[in-house]
Amino acid sequence: MMTQNLVSTNNQQLTTNISYNVVLQAENICKSFTLHNQGGINFPVIEDISFNLKAGECVALAGESGTGKSTFMRCLYANYRVNSGAVWVKHEGEWVNLCKLESYELITVRQKTIGYVSQFLRVIPRVPAIDVAIEPLLELGVDKKVAHEKICELFTRLNLPQHLWNLSPTNFSGGEKQRVNIARALAVDYPILLLDEPTSALDATNSQVVIELLQERKKDGCAMVGIFHDEEVRSQLCDGELKVKDS
Ligand SMILES: Nc1ncnc2c1ncn2[C@@H]1O[C@H](COP(=O)(O)OP(=O)(O)OP(=O)(O)O)[C@@H](O)[C@H]1O
Ligand SMILES: [Mg+2]
Repeated sequence: MMTQNLVSTNNQQLTTNISYNVVLQAENICKSFTLHNQGGINFPVIEDISFNLKAGECVALAGESGTGKSTFMRCLYANYRVNSGAVWVKHEGEWVNLCKLESYELITVRQKTIGYVSQFLRVIPRVPAIDVAIEPLLELGVDKKVAHEKICELFTRLNLPQHLWNLSPTNFSGGEKQRVNIARALAVDYPILLLDEPTSALDATNSQVVIELLQERKKDGCAMVGIFHDEEVRSQLCDGELKVKDS
């Protein structure tokens, strides 16, 4: 294995050697929640998880309901602040620890390097589906016409009926909202994608479309961490699994 010693842009030495094609490394992640409205009880959810993710690899987070899969994914996206540990991400050729970034730096990493498909689409009333999906591309400075074409292409592949494109997703079905969410995340060529049950509300045909889109991304070198309850999705996409809790 080819290895290198790396120094991050925020000047922290990575503690281990990383092979060249690793794009994300989680180191000793611990996360607990304190319930302030219940006497300040503190309960640990993630206890010392480390793993590496390579370009073109898809790792499934495994564990029963409530074991901390979504929590761990949110730690990887720095949505949740970890108690200890580090999330190293290769961003424009430099290693950055998401847990230590200033918020403006985190925004840039999320715009360019790491995408996240949450289970539910955050719907803004009166904003049409096409504008919801196009936003990350426009934020990157992509030409409006090019961005528009890309979203139309994705909506078409995802079988989102054309009469919905200019309506706000507020009243869309669960599966329609999920497809808008997926188009929004897949429009940008993120090197890393985090997917929290991206096909949970889809029928078999639309699930298969998403699997194919994700397989294409993998071939292009996109690295993925996913939570997939559907065995069919897991078997077609994933190269390995990571248990969030020892059983
Ligand atoms: N913001 C929060 N505040 C307090 N507790 C939380 C918070 N988020 C998650 N938890 C708790 O952490 C534990 C793990 O939740 P999480 O949503 O990560 O589980 P999961 O493995 O994704 O489950 P599922 O398969 O049902 O989606 C649960 O006991 C949950 O109640
Ligand atoms: Mg979950």
